[in-house]
Amino acid sequence: MNVSPPGKGEIHVEGLISMLSENMQKALNGQLVAELYSAYLYLAMAAYFDAAGLPGFANWMRVQAQEELTHGMRFYNFVNERDGRVVLGPIEGPPTGWDSPAAAFEHVLAHERKVTGLIQELVKLAAEEMDRATSDFLQWFVKEQVEEEESAEGVLRKVKGAGAELAALEGELAARVFKPPAAPS
Ligand SMILES: [Fe+2]
Ligand SMILES: [Fe+2]
Repeated sequence: MNVSPPGKGEIHVEGLISMLSENMQKALNGQLVAELYSAYLYLAMAAYFDAAGLPGFANWMRVQAQEELTHGMRFYNFVNERDGRVVLGPIEGPPTGWDSPAAAFEHVLAHERKVTGLIQELVKLAAEEMDRATSDFLQWFVKEQVEEEESAEGVLRKVKGAGAELAALEGELAARVFKPPAAPS
């Protein structure tokens, strides 16, 4: 009798939670890269604000970038936990400059709306495949995207309202601190 252990991902025990489908795994890996691109985009915005002499704005973007890294890691960990294989694709280069601080925040909002659409596509695929574990996992992101859009809209409103008086917002944005998210429950 052959008792050699199966290679990772080659075999799985039939149970309540089956292995990720090829399709789902590919889509989750794609979202992992999309989250890392988000981090890259916000870090590029941080660099833009640092160069513009707005370190408070840069701080807000750095914290945003850190959060996106943790989003990426959630996908990384989830694919691993499901006995899947993490495959990292290339990360596109982000833009290097924006016409104004307001334009940068317009871009944040547009980007977050785009990511919401990507999460919705994943939710749809998980439902089609009747993959309950992935559906449950994605619920955290559904809620997170509501907050992400709300927070981008909030800052954008303030930046537009401040007009040329951006210095007034500096202190507020400088106060944002990165809080490592609680472990997924
Ligand atoms: Fe994200
Ligand atoms: Fe985000």
